[in-house]
Amino acid sequence: MVYLDNGATTQKPQAVIDAITHYYTALNSNIHRGVHHLSQVATDAYELTRTKLKPFINAEHEHEIILTKGTTDAINLVAQCYGKAFVEAGDEIIISALEHHSNIVPWQMLCEEKGATLKVIPMDVEGNLDLAAYKGMLNEKVKMVALTYVSNSLGTVNPVKEIIDLAHAHDVPVLLDAAQAVQHIPIDVQHLDVDFLAFSGHKMYGPTGVGVLYGKEKWLNAMPPYQGGGDMIKTVTFEKTTYNDLPFKFEAGTPNIEAGICLAAAIDYIEEIGLKNIARYEEELLEYATDSLLEIPDLRIIGTAKQKSSVISFLIDGTHPYDIGTILDKLGIAVRTGHHCTQPVMDFFGIPGTIRASIGLYNSKEDIDVLTEGVKRAKSMLV
Ligand SMILES: Cc1ncc(COP(=O)(O)O)c(C=O)c1O
Repeated sequence: MVYLDNGATTQKPQAVIDAITHYYTALNSNIHRGVHHLSQVATDAYELTRTKLKPFINAEHEHEIILTKGTTDAINLVAQCYGKAFVEAGDEIIISALEHHSNIVPWQMLCEEKGATLKVIPMDVEGNLDLAAYKGMLNEKVKMVALTYVSNSLGTVNPVKEIIDLAHAHDVPVLLDAAQAVQHIPIDVQHLDVDFLAFSGHKMYGPTGVGVLYGKEKWLNAMPPYQGGGDMIKTVTFEKTTYNDLPFKFEAGTPNIEAGICLAAAIDYIEEIGLKNIARYEEELLEYATDSLLEIPDLRIIGTAKQKSSVISFLIDGTHPYDIGTILDKLGIAVRTGHHCTQPVMDFFGIPGTIRASIGLYNSKEDIDVLTEGVKRAKSMLV
């Protein structure tokens, strides 16, 4: 099988699979609560992931790293908690035309609840955001800019440093959805000066069910808790509860302990290879795949931004993406077809969906050759 659906989720390296087996064989216990040995060992292993995440994204403090269920959960946390504290009727939230549904709907829900307005940075036909329009949208009513680092359906890499600097010039914080970035591009949250960063473990060679919310200490301290329950409290009486310190204030209840612990194995795996090496290799592969696919007559790439990462979305005139995807599946090639949870992007291009090949670090030029031949064969069967 040739697996080119890494944007949806990555396969897991043996080191991560072994870590999961090790957890259930040797460490299984609840964390942050037991005085017994197993609980302490499991707690240490869980907290080690946080320790490893700090240099991985260059956070200033370990307690700025909240472990969540995933990117979606992390964005919902910010929309709800930041929204509760800082967003009022008449305010504005800016997102972009490229967003995954998980960075649209939580803000829409917040705007509905608060009587705020959602504004969208437009894009051009290549999939580049219109920065001039963005500059014109920034004003004192804007309370958050939330956008994706890398588009999951077009592959556009947004100029996030510039976008953050412009927002900060108006005292507006920025949330970056790094679900499609953190496994492909080295990220330094202090250099970016980003206020919030969200990503998922399962898209970076780690387990499903764990994700990360990085937030600047000043924001996290100023936000109310997300959910109530165990672990997020200091003291509870029927009259009043006092909340725990960061990061635990945002981590109510028993988390996905196994996934949290085993994310560390994925970080080690990525760091051993090195994100700079991964980025260089995948860039070369993306260029090779783009050139190979474009040799197929009537194949059109959707998303041709100057800066792209890991994703090629395409269509073949006279065919439906589902039909191509189904034939590719029969040929042992896994790609994604559909709207990729970015319906507004598909509406912009006036198409029902695309065929999306998304690259991971284990893909090779041979995989791309198999894809190209598969697409040619599928086309010959349909047109
Ligand atoms: C850009 C982007 N944001 C958010 C998500 C949601 O991630 P999750 O489903 O892991 O929460 C995805 C998943 O495909 C994505 O590609």
